[in-house]
Amino acid sequence: MSENPKAAGGRDPFRLAVLVSGGGTNLQAIIDRIADGSLGGVSIAAVISTSPGAYALERAEKAGIPGFTVSPKQFGTREDFSAALRAKVDEADPDLIVLAGCLTKIPAALVEAYPNRIINIHPALIPSFSGKGFYGLRVHEAALRRGVRVTGATVHFVSEGLDEGPIILQRAVEIREGDTPEILQRRVMEQAEWEILPEAIRLIAEGRVSVGAEGTVRIRAAGQES
Ligand code: GRF
Repeated sequence: MSENPKAAGGRDPFRLAVLVSGGGTNLQAIIDRIADGSLGGVSIAAVISTSPGAYALERAEKAGIPGFTVSPKQFGTREDFSAALRAKVDEADPDLIVLAGCLTKIPAALVEAYPNRIINIHPALIPSFSGKGFYGLRVHEAALRRGVRVTGATVHFVSEGLDEGPIILQRAVEIREGDTPEILQRRVMEQAEWEILPEAIRLIAEGRVSVGAEGTVRIRAAGQES
């Protein structure tokens, strides 16, 4: 039996708003896990792109999911962008907001409005190669430059500080001789990101993830009461 009270009995799905900016392979991983039944009771209410023309929006359309663009470029001020993004997210009425390759910094007001209800996937083992300036290929370039033997991906809750929120799941990926940033990025996606992002969503939808007073995450085993 599912521990997601909303998913129980197949009524009332656990609603996601997925925020994207690019290719949307992480979005696709979520769509695929919903389609194959491993994310039972979860549905994507809206895909919101912060970048016009993002391929992720085509993936949403193909899957029959409403897609929207709310880009800072459409607005004169950061405040106006922030208000429009907030309105679009609220309209989707999400249980959880998923940043899946979203390259725009999420306005503080949105983070405050959805405490521990926004998650992000970062393509490194936080706290390594994270924070300001570490996005996209730059993360993998930095890992190769430093010569680390292991990198990976992290799913974490979003807080005010960039990449600083409570860590939910991490998966390690080994670095191989001859890796380029592009090769490493692909391996991190295949072996880590596309696995742990849907997995984190499943755990949260099942009501098994909590954040303690000390700011670290606890994950209850399936069937464990509290
Ligand atoms: C991924 O590496 C993600 O971790 C990062 O941006 C990249 C975009 O992936 N934040 P996609 O748009 O899901 O394909």
